[in-house]
Amino acid sequence: MTEQTPVTEASAVKVPTLPDAQTVTSVQHWTDRLFSFRVTRPASLRFRSGEFVMIGLMGDPDPKTGRQKPLLRAYSIASPSWDEELEFYSIKVQDGPLTSRLQHIQPGDEIILRPKPVGTLVHDALLPGKRLWFFATGTGFAPFASLLRDPQTYEDYDQVIVTHTCRDVAELEYGRQLIENLRSDELMLELLGEENLRKLTYYPTTTRETSPKMGRVTNLLTDGTLFADLGIEGISPDTDRAMVCGSMGLNTDLKEILEGFGLEEGANSDPKHYVVEKAFVG
Ligand code: A2P
Repeated sequence: MTEQTPVTEASAVKVPTLPDAQTVTSVQHWTDRLFSFRVTRPASLRFRSGEFVMIGLMGDPDPKTGRQKPLLRAYSIASPSWDEELEFYSIKVQDGPLTSRLQHIQPGDEIILRPKPVGTLVHDALLPGKRLWFFATGTGFAPFASLLRDPQTYEDYDQVIVTHTCRDVAELEYGRQLIENLRSDELMLELLGEENLRKLTYYPTTTRETSPKMGRVTNLLTDGTLFADLGIEGISPDTDRAMVCGSMGLNTDLKEILEGFGLEEGANSDPKHYVVEKAFVG
């Protein structure tokens, strides 16, 4: 009679095949250009809501040496710092070196995640204020998906306004659902507080498809539409703080607009009135 080898816990654990491997737990496709996914979180990973990490996949083998190098890009963590998993929100670029492959991940697959969070879209980089603005285009919504689920966002401010500009209505859906969920999910209501959630205003706009509010947020800011719609007099360094995340064009244009209102750019080491980060593209 042979004795059966007991399955020990160690032998049942999946051995990572990649350096810094994390396992995909869910994937959701929003449009043919956008998807989000969740992965396991390394037990030792601490981050501040709004920060980004480098994630990716192993690149193709070098034709000469056969060696593979990791193909990594900066991705804002879209989940809040208290979440036990990590969430990411990504564009799909059909000929993009990483996202052409990353868009095909499935639950159970592994991705590489370098556990070194950094970034400027953090509360620490802003001076105290009364009103907080999040300005996003496209996948630039990701860091705000994290910050909007962080109680500190509501504790530190009297009002929180998130604007999201996308080409069409379908591209707003990830953000729209997230905000709807904040207001309807029992866990979120309990964590953030109903009173606190009343501080939140969501202002979605589209530029290429008809929707209730159309136009680039930059134009809506400069022509006064945004202020008129929200019943706000304007943006001032005395009361307003802002975080900006989108395309290079948005970031440059909004910087100029915010500086025109007298706001100054802050950093982790020198907190001021607004901060900017480029959304991952490609
Ligand atoms: P537009 O359709 O007028 O280019 P993308 O999907 O290309 O990243 O763009 C996301 C959204 O950001 C689009 O609605 C786009 O508007 C808008 N956008 C692009 N550049 C700017 C900019 N410089 N200022 C404001 N919005 C911008």
